[in-house]
Amino acid sequence: MEGAEIRRRFLEFFAARDHEVVPSASLVPQNDPTLLFTNAGMVQFKDVFLGREHRDYNRAVTSQRCLRAGGKHNDLENVGHTARHHTFFEMLGNFSFGDYFKREAIQYAWAFLTEDLGLPEEKLFVTVYTEDEEAARIWLDEMGIDSARFAYVGAEDNFWSMGDTGPCGPCSEIFYDHGPELPGSPPGSGEDEGDRYVEIWNLVFMQYNRDAEGNLHDLPKPNIDTGMGLERIAAVMEGVHNNFDTDLFLPLIHKAAELAGVRYNDADATDVSLRVIADHIRACSFLITDGVIPSNEGRGYVLRRIIRRAARHGRMLGIEGSFFHQLVQPLVDAMGHHFTELDEQQATIERVLRIEEERFAATLSDGLAHLEEVVRNLSEGAREIPGEAAFRLYDTYGFPLDLTEDIARERGLSVDTAGFDEHMAEQKARARASWGGSGEERVPQAYYDLLESHQGTEFLGYQSLSAEAALTGILKDDACFQELNAGEEAVLVLNQTPFYGESGGQVGDTGRITTAEAEFVVTDTQLPLPGLVAHVGRLERGRLKTGETVHCTVDESARHATAYNHSATHLLHGALRRQVGEHVRQMGSLVEPERLRFDFSHYEGLTPDQLRTIENEVNRHIRANYEVSADWMTLDQAQAKGAIAFFDEKYGEQVRVITMGPASMELCGGTHVSRTGNISLFKIVEETGIAAGVRRITALTGQEALNYVQGQEDQIGRIAGLLKGTRADADERVAELVERSRDLEKEVERLKSKLATAASGDLLDRVQEVGGTKVLAAALEGQDPKSLRQTVDQLKQKLGSGVIVLGVPDPEKGKVSLIAGVTDDLTDRFSAGDLVNRVAEGVGGKGGGRADMAQAGGKDPENLEAALERVPEYVESCLAT
Ligand code: ALA
Repeated sequence: MEGAEIRRRFLEFFAARDHEVVPSASLVPQNDPTLLFTNAGMVQFKDVFLGREHRDYNRAVTSQRCLRAGGKHNDLENVGHTARHHTFFEMLGNFSFGDYFKREAIQYAWAFLTEDLGLPEEKLFVTVYTEDEEAARIWLDEMGIDSARFAYVGAEDNFWSMGDTGPCGPCSEIFYDHGPELPGSPPGSGEDEGDRYVEIWNLVFMQYNRDAEGNLHDLPKPNIDTGMGLERIAAVMEGVHNNFDTDLFLPLIHKAAELAGVRYNDADATDVSLRVIADHIRACSFLITDGVIPSNEGRGYVLRRIIRRAARHGRMLGIEGSFFHQLVQPLVDAMGHHFTELDEQQATIERVLRIEEERFAATLSDGLAHLEEVVRNLSEGAREIPGEAAFRLYDTYGFPLDLTEDIARERGLSVDTAGFDEHMAEQKARARASWGGSGEERVPQAYYDLLESHQGTEFLGYQSLSAEAALTGILKDDACFQELNAGEEAVLVLNQTPFYGESGGQVGDTGRITTAEAEFVVTDTQLPLPGLVAHVGRLERGRLKTGETVHCTVDESARHATAYNHSATHLLHGALRRQVGEHVRQMGSLVEPERLRFDFSHYEGLTPDQLRTIENEVNRHIRANYEVSADWMTLDQAQAKGAIAFFDEKYGEQVRVITMGPASMELCGGTHVSRTGNISLFKIVEETGIAAGVRRITALTGQEALNYVQGQEDQIGRIAGLLKGTRADADERVAELVERSRDLEKEVERLKSKLATAASGDLLDRVQEVGGTKVLAAALEGQDPKSLRQTVDQLKQKLGSGVIVLGVPDPEKGKVSLIAGVTDDLTDRFSAGDLVNRVAEGVGGKGGGRADMAQAGGKDPENLEAALERVPEYVESCLAT
């Protein structure tokens, strides 16, 4: 029975028993910033178990994509070497949220395995937690399990928790016996290593919440969470012992084997590499589908490590160049039917993989060669690769540490990871020092106290820009005061306010808080704690006392300009996802009155064409003048409607969804325009990369955009004025000008060389004979060093044989340039270098060069003539020796 068929049957079995079929959640957990990846089916239901979230069903079934790499649950190293470790796998699970408990969970599991899949009872083995007598009685007495195939097991295996804190409970596991021909003893026997008994299904009786101190608290209601690895049950149903030999992996393995020109099941090392590649293409493709892009941090770095590990195994199989992306097609064929998002993003996945592979291919060979050398140079008996070498491989050649460890392990070596960490820490410290960041900011205690005593601030600013409010707190240097005097800087806290406190990338409002006598100018508004707005500024006149009623007025034009930019940011985000790809995720955003800046994940720069298309799309939505609506709803409802929500972000029970016609729907707490037409104009001014895999767009809206366009227009006007043309033909004029200047340069060159020729002609009159050698020593006006050399060359030709020294005085700069030349026939007797030096001495300088041509400089132009007169003397002295 194929994997897809098992998945279908599982979902249908539980659907027929009133379970809601819920789609797999993303690999990137949406409700838990502490978790790197979704590592079990229950992750998307965590808040339901904790009673923090309610759904309109209390039974669910899923086939959840999971990843166990890089986090608390990390199986990366084992992949390929064992029969059932994977980075990516699918977990089939049924869930009860305070509905049924142990009895039904056990009955359902047993019925699915023995009746629906038809597995023989004698091949199944069951364990329960040592202290869970209730579950034991259900299995033994009610289900009639043979006690020979039953065992109690301790907390190490039969007490499941999602992480160090959170929902947890005792569990009961079901094993499949692959038969006596495999090594391994029954679970609970204390030596249950080996591949014979394989856990296939874990039933967790989720009844506790573990707090940060490790204490267990009863959950509001007991729940059921179960997990059955699809790959393992597929191996059982397909009668194979190794998950990689199921239909879930074989097409991938065969494609990799074809690309490498090898056969599967031929040699151990080859098989390991083929399995690693087959595992990794699944993990990488789904990570990219879920918006992760290779980078040097967090989730992106896990992806990078997995891709690079696959690339190296490709190299070990003898594949040259990038190949990994070619496995996306067979994966889409196998899984795209159920996971349609995979199918939809195929092209993006292939491109991301190809770019990352190519990037690594450039350093892989050099890195491997370097590693060979390190291994060769290990001293006698040393079995460890030094931390420094591992760090260098990381830093220079892009080898993730686990890749180096992998290679080391294959040779029976280890890596000094502590040494690696030290080098890494040093590098980070250096980076920090040069960056000078200030680290985490702490919220002053006074804000917590105010929140306690006054219940925070109600925000009125979605509807109005002015309001009356009670002054509940005055803070100076983070301490509370009752009064504020003119000239003092402070933070005011009110019971309600129209001022928006900086959050979600939108900067805080500015404006005024006044009474009949006093005026406080608000220069910034912050949100130090959720529900507490801090108005930062200075009391310009009068006095303020806590308890007073004040009048708030937000700077309207700044707020409107900010709203244009915020609404335009949503339109831009939507357009990017449509034009560039669904993988685009917001990585950061700044919304100010003057401009907007949007950072997003994408693996390469956008082309000018793409930028134009995006800019045009946003402006089309502006002209369509959609109504902008803000609605409160549950996160589930928002997601069901297709609203964009951000990873790593904590949302409350109710979320605010901003909708702009068909153009955008996004969760957001910011302030927006009422119709898109208010934005009036959207202009992108820059697109750059700010980190690996992260791009930044800066854009303007409203009057700022118009100012920018007008500024460019003015600039072209000024250029046209300088060219004595019109704006329309300014570019043609510039082109003409550039061409003309090129012609002129050529002309100047030509004239200079003509001048040099003429000068050399005149100079011939001044040649003297010294002891039968022709000697020319002369001063020239206004030649540059290049033409000076040309002149000397021409003089040499004309003289046929002789010694030449030329000097160019520049009295204004107080400089002299000198050059000497000796024709080839005389270089054994005279040296141009000596000659030029001799003259240079006379003008306070020094020089040197070859025997046939040498140059020098000096700083006494007034002595040039006298210095040149010594040339014949020098020639004579050389002849005499
Ligand atoms: N959450 C349980 C597990 O992952 C079912 O094993």
